[in-house]
Amino acid sequence: MVFGASGGIGSALLRALEKDPRCAVAAAVGRNTAPALDLEAEPSIREAAEAIAKDGTVHLIIDATGILHDVDMSPEKTIDAVDPATIARAFAVNATGPLLLFKHFHRLLPRDERGAFASLSARVGSISDNALGGWYGYRASKAALNMFIRTAAIELARKRPLAVCLALHPGTVQTQLSDPYSGSRERFQPDHSAEQLLQVIDRAQICQTGSFLAYDGSEIPW
Ligand SMILES: NC(=O)c1ccc[n+]([C@@H]2O[C@H](COP(=O)([O-])OP(=O)(O)OC[C@H]3O[C@@H](n4cnc5c(N)ncnc54)[C@H](OP(=O)(O)O)[C@@H]3O)[C@@H](O)[C@H]2O)c1
Repeated sequence: MVFGASGGIGSALLRALEKDPRCAVAAAVGRNTAPALDLEAEPSIREAAEAIAKDGTVHLIIDATGILHDVDMSPEKTIDAVDPATIARAFAVNATGPLLLFKHFHRLLPRDERGAFASLSARVGSISDNALGGWYGYRASKAALNMFIRTAAIELARKRPLAVCLALHPGTVQTQLSDPYSGSRERFQPDHSAEQLLQVIDRAQICQTGSFLAYDGSEIPW
Protein backbone atom coordinates (compact mmCIF):
# COMPACT_ATOMS: atom_id res chain seq x y z
CA MET A 1 0.00 0.00 0.00
CA VAL A 2 1.42 3.34 -1.03
CA PHE A 3 0.22 6.67 0.35
CA GLY A 4 1.20 9.61 -1.84
CA ALA A 5 1.21 7.52 -5.04
CA SER A 6 0.15 10.59 -7.03
CA GLY A 7 3.54 12.13 -6.22
CA GLY A 8 6.90 11.69 -7.92
CA ILE A 9 8.45 9.08 -5.61
CA GLY A 10 5.14 7.50 -4.56
CA SER A 11 4.13 6.81 -8.17
CA ALA A 12 7.54 5.22 -8.82
CA LEU A 13 7.13 3.05 -5.71
CA LEU A 14 3.72 1.93 -6.91
CA ARG A 15 5.09 1.07 -10.40
CA ALA A 16 7.92 -0.94 -8.87
CA LEU A 17 5.53 -2.88 -6.62
CA GLU A 18 3.15 -3.56 -9.51
CA LYS A 19 6.06 -5.19 -11.38
CA ASP A 20 7.27 -7.20 -8.36
CA PRO A 21 6.07 -10.84 -8.60
CA ARG A 22 6.13 -11.08 -4.78
CA CYS A 23 3.49 -8.37 -4.56
CA ALA A 24 -0.02 -9.79 -5.06
CA VAL A 25 -1.81 -6.44 -4.98
CA ALA A 26 -0.32 -2.95 -5.01
CA ALA A 27 -2.77 -0.31 -3.84
CA ALA A 28 -2.60 3.48 -3.93
CA VAL A 29 -4.44 5.52 -1.30
CA GLY A 30 -4.56 9.30 -1.47
CA ARG A 31 -6.74 12.35 -1.86
CA ASN A 32 -8.12 11.17 -5.22
CA THR A 33 -8.56 7.43 -4.72
CA ALA A 34 -11.50 5.38 -3.49
CA PRO A 35 -11.47 5.26 -0.53
CA ALA A 36 -9.80 8.66 -0.29
CA LEU A 37 -7.91 10.22 2.59
CA ASP A 38 -6.47 13.61 3.42
CA LEU A 39 -3.65 13.81 5.98
CA GLU A 40 -5.23 16.94 7.42
CA ALA A 41 -8.57 15.21 8.10
CA GLU A 42 -8.29 12.33 10.59
CA PRO A 43 -11.84 11.01 9.98
CA SER A 44 -10.93 10.38 6.33
CA ILE A 45 -7.87 8.37 7.45
CA ARG A 46 -9.89 6.33 9.94
CA GLU A 47 -12.66 5.62 7.43
CA ALA A 48 -10.20 4.59 4.70
CA ALA A 49 -8.42 2.23 7.10
CA GLU A 50 -11.73 0.68 8.18
CA ALA A 51 -12.78 0.14 4.54
CA ILE A 52 -9.42 -1.37 3.53
CA ALA A 53 -9.20 -3.59 6.63
CA LYS A 54 -12.12 -5.60 5.23
CA ASP A 55 -9.76 -6.89 2.50
CA GLY A 56 -7.36 -8.44 5.04
CA THR A 57 -3.76 -7.77 5.99
CA VAL A 58 -1.24 -5.50 4.27
CA HIS A 59 2.41 -6.57 4.44
CA LEU A 60 4.01 -3.32 3.29
CA ILE A 61 2.77 0.18 4.00
CA ILE A 62 4.80 3.04 2.52
CA ASP A 63 3.99 6.66 3.23
CA ALA A 64 5.40 8.78 0.39
CA THR A 65 3.39 11.90 1.24
CA GLY A 66 4.89 15.24 2.16
CA ILE A 67 4.97 18.95 1.46
CA LEU A 68 7.79 21.46 0.95
CA HIS A 69 6.01 24.14 -1.04
CA ASP A 70 2.69 24.93 -2.69
CA VAL A 71 0.86 28.09 -3.72
CA ASP A 72 0.59 29.19 -0.08
CA MET A 73 3.97 28.11 1.28
CA SER A 74 7.65 27.99 0.44
CA PRO A 75 10.64 27.02 2.61
CA GLU A 76 11.90 29.90 4.74
CA LYS A 77 15.35 31.25 3.77
CA THR A 78 15.64 33.38 6.93
CA ILE A 79 13.87 33.85 10.26
CA ASP A 80 12.00 36.86 8.82
CA ALA A 81 10.05 34.51 6.56
CA VAL A 82 8.82 32.34 9.46
CA ASP A 83 5.03 32.30 9.67
CA PRO A 84 3.20 30.28 12.35
CA ALA A 85 0.45 29.12 9.98
CA THR A 86 3.00 27.78 7.49
CA ILE A 87 4.92 25.99 10.24
CA ALA A 88 1.66 24.46 11.52
CA ARG A 89 0.81 23.26 7.99
CA ALA A 90 4.25 21.66 7.56
CA PHE A 91 3.80 19.82 10.85
CA ALA A 92 0.24 18.74 9.97
CA VAL A 93 1.25 17.23 6.63
CA ASN A 94 4.81 16.05 7.29
CA ALA A 95 4.59 14.84 10.89
CA THR A 96 1.08 14.52 12.37
CA GLY A 97 -0.40 13.17 9.11
CA PRO A 98 2.05 10.24 8.83
CA LEU A 99 1.56 9.49 12.54
CA LEU A 100 -2.20 9.31 11.94
CA LEU A 101 -1.55 6.92 9.03
CA PHE A 102 0.37 4.75 11.49
CA LYS A 103 -2.37 5.10 14.10
CA HIS A 104 -5.10 3.82 11.81
CA PHE A 105 -3.22 1.50 9.44
CA HIS A 106 -0.68 -0.35 11.63
CA ARG A 107 -3.40 -2.80 12.61
CA LEU A 108 -3.48 -4.00 9.01
CA LEU A 109 0.10 -5.32 9.29
CA PRO A 110 0.24 -9.10 9.79
CA ARG A 111 0.60 -10.42 13.34
CA ASP A 112 2.73 -13.48 12.62
CA GLU A 113 4.57 -12.58 9.41
CA ARG A 114 7.09 -9.98 8.37
CA GLY A 115 5.61 -6.55 7.74
CA ALA A 116 6.86 -3.00 7.26
CA PHE A 117 5.66 0.55 7.78
CA ALA A 118 8.01 3.05 6.14
CA SER A 119 7.61 6.80 5.99
CA LEU A 120 9.59 9.10 3.71
CA SER A 121 11.47 11.60 5.82
CA ALA A 122 14.37 13.75 4.60
CA ARG A 123 18.04 14.09 5.52
CA VAL A 124 17.42 17.79 6.22
CA GLY A 125 15.35 16.62 9.21
CA SER A 126 18.55 15.40 10.86
CA ILE A 127 19.41 17.85 13.66
CA SER A 128 23.09 16.86 13.85
CA ASP A 129 23.49 17.03 10.04
CA ASN A 130 22.11 20.59 9.82
CA ALA A 131 24.99 22.79 8.69
CA LEU A 132 23.16 25.05 6.22
CA GLY A 133 20.21 26.42 8.22
CA GLY A 134 16.99 27.74 6.66
CA TRP A 135 13.87 25.69 5.82
CA TYR A 136 12.68 25.98 9.45
CA GLY A 137 9.27 24.39 9.03
CA TYR A 138 10.27 21.54 6.70
CA ARG A 139 13.36 20.62 8.74
CA ALA A 140 11.54 20.69 12.08
CA SER A 141 8.51 18.80 10.76
CA LYS A 142 10.77 16.03 9.43
CA ALA A 143 12.67 15.92 12.75
CA ALA A 144 9.27 15.53 14.46
CA LEU A 145 8.34 12.79 11.98
CA ASN A 146 11.58 10.98 12.86
CA MET A 147 10.67 11.05 16.55
CA PHE A 148 7.14 9.85 15.80
CA ILE A 149 8.50 6.94 13.75
CA ARG A 150 11.00 6.00 16.46
CA THR A 151 8.27 6.10 19.11
CA ALA A 152 5.79 4.17 16.95
CA ALA A 153 8.44 1.53 16.26
CA ILE A 154 8.75 0.81 19.98
CA GLU A 155 5.00 0.29 20.28
CA LEU A 156 4.85 -1.75 17.07
CA ALA A 157 7.58 -4.08 18.36
CA ARG A 158 5.21 -5.09 21.17
CA LYS A 159 2.17 -5.55 18.93
CA ARG A 160 3.71 -6.83 15.68
CA PRO A 161 7.14 -8.23 16.64
CA LEU A 162 8.00 -9.27 13.07
CA ALA A 163 7.34 -5.82 11.61
CA VAL A 164 9.78 -2.98 11.06
CA CYS A 165 8.95 0.73 11.23
CA LEU A 166 11.39 3.00 9.39
CA ALA A 167 12.03 6.63 8.48
CA LEU A 168 13.68 6.75 5.04
CA HIS A 169 15.58 9.42 3.12
CA PRO A 170 14.99 8.92 -0.63
CA GLY A 171 17.95 11.01 -1.84
CA THR A 172 17.48 14.19 -3.86
CA VAL A 173 14.95 13.08 -6.43
CA GLN A 174 13.64 14.75 -9.57
CA THR A 175 10.06 15.57 -8.57
CA GLN A 176 7.91 18.68 -8.39
CA LEU A 177 8.80 18.90 -4.68
CA SER A 178 12.52 19.45 -5.35
CA ASP A 179 12.24 21.17 -8.78
CA PRO A 180 12.45 24.79 -7.58
CA TYR A 181 15.40 24.17 -5.22
CA SER A 182 17.67 21.67 -6.97
CA GLY A 183 19.84 24.18 -8.90
CA SER A 184 22.60 22.32 -10.70
CA ARG A 185 22.62 19.50 -8.15
CA GLU A 186 22.35 15.98 -9.57
CA ARG A 187 19.09 14.28 -8.74
CA PHE A 188 17.97 10.65 -8.84
CA GLN A 189 15.21 9.63 -11.18
CA PRO A 190 12.15 8.61 -9.12
CA ASP A 191 12.28 5.00 -10.40
CA HIS A 192 15.89 4.67 -9.22
CA SER A 193 15.08 6.06 -5.78
CA ALA A 194 12.04 3.76 -5.50
CA GLU A 195 14.10 0.64 -6.34
CA GLN A 196 16.70 1.64 -3.74
CA LEU A 197 14.10 2.35 -1.05
CA LEU A 198 12.36 -1.00 -1.62
CA GLN A 199 15.71 -2.78 -1.26
CA VAL A 200 16.40 -0.94 1.99
CA ILE A 201 13.00 -2.03 3.37
CA ASP A 202 13.54 -5.59 2.13
CA ARG A 203 16.93 -5.84 3.82
CA ALA A 204 16.00 -4.12 7.08
CA GLN A 205 16.54 -6.38 10.08
CA ILE A 206 14.04 -6.46 12.93
CA CYS A 207 16.74 -4.94 15.17
CA GLN A 208 16.81 -1.91 12.84
CA THR A 209 13.21 -0.98 13.51
CA GLY A 210 12.93 2.68 14.51
CA SER A 211 15.95 3.66 12.38
CA PHE A 212 16.44 6.60 10.03
CA LEU A 213 17.97 5.12 6.88
CA ALA A 214 19.10 6.60 3.57
CA TYR A 215 18.36 5.14 0.11
CA ASP A 216 21.69 3.24 0.23
CA GLY A 217 20.85 1.60 3.57
CA SER A 218 23.23 3.77 5.60
CA GLU A 219 22.05 5.05 8.97
CA ILE A 220 21.51 8.84 9.21
CA PRO A 221 22.35 10.48 12.54
CA TRP A 222 19.35 12.04 14.30
N1 LIG B 1 12.05 14.82 -3.96
C1 LIG B 1 13.08 14.90 -3.13
O1 LIG B 1 14.21 15.29 -3.53
C2 LIG B 1 12.93 14.49 -1.69
C3 LIG B 1 14.08 14.55 -0.86
C4 LIG B 1 13.95 14.18 0.49
C5 LIG B 1 12.74 13.75 0.98
N2 LIG B 1 11.65 13.70 0.16
C6 LIG B 1 10.37 13.27 0.75
O2 LIG B 1 9.80 12.23 -0.03
C7 LIG B 1 8.36 12.30 0.05
C8 LIG B 1 7.78 12.30 -1.37
O3 LIG B 1 8.30 13.42 -2.05
P1 LIG B 1 8.05 13.70 -3.62
O4 LIG B 1 9.26 14.38 -4.09
O5 LIG B 1 7.55 12.46 -4.29
O6 LIG B 1 6.87 14.79 -3.50
P2 LIG B 1 5.58 15.06 -4.42
O7 LIG B 1 5.81 14.63 -5.81
O8 LIG B 1 5.22 16.48 -4.16
O9 LIG B 1 4.47 14.10 -3.77
C9 LIG B 1 3.89 14.42 -2.53
C10 LIG B 1 2.73 13.49 -2.28
O10 LIG B 1 2.17 13.84 -0.99
C11 LIG B 1 0.75 13.88 -1.13
N3 LIG B 1 0.13 14.79 -0.17
C12 LIG B 1 0.49 16.06 0.11
N4 LIG B 1 -0.36 16.59 1.01
C13 LIG B 1 -1.28 15.61 1.29
C14 LIG B 1 -2.41 15.55 2.14
N5 LIG B 1 -2.81 16.60 2.88
N6 LIG B 1 -3.13 14.41 2.18
C15 LIG B 1 -2.75 13.34 1.43
N7 LIG B 1 -1.68 13.34 0.60
C16 LIG B 1 -0.97 14.48 0.53
C17 LIG B 1 0.53 14.39 -2.56
O11 LIG B 1 -0.79 14.09 -2.95
P3 LIG B 1 -1.69 15.06 -3.91
O12 LIG B 1 -1.41 14.57 -5.31
O13 LIG B 1 -3.08 14.79 -3.46
O14 LIG B 1 -1.21 16.47 -3.66
C18 LIG B 1 1.60 13.59 -3.30
O15 LIG B 1 1.11 12.30 -3.61
C19 LIG B 1 8.05 13.55 0.87
O16 LIG B 1 7.85 13.20 2.21
C20 LIG B 1 9.33 14.38 0.76
O17 LIG B 1 9.50 15.24 1.86
C21 LIG B 1 11.72 14.06 -1.16
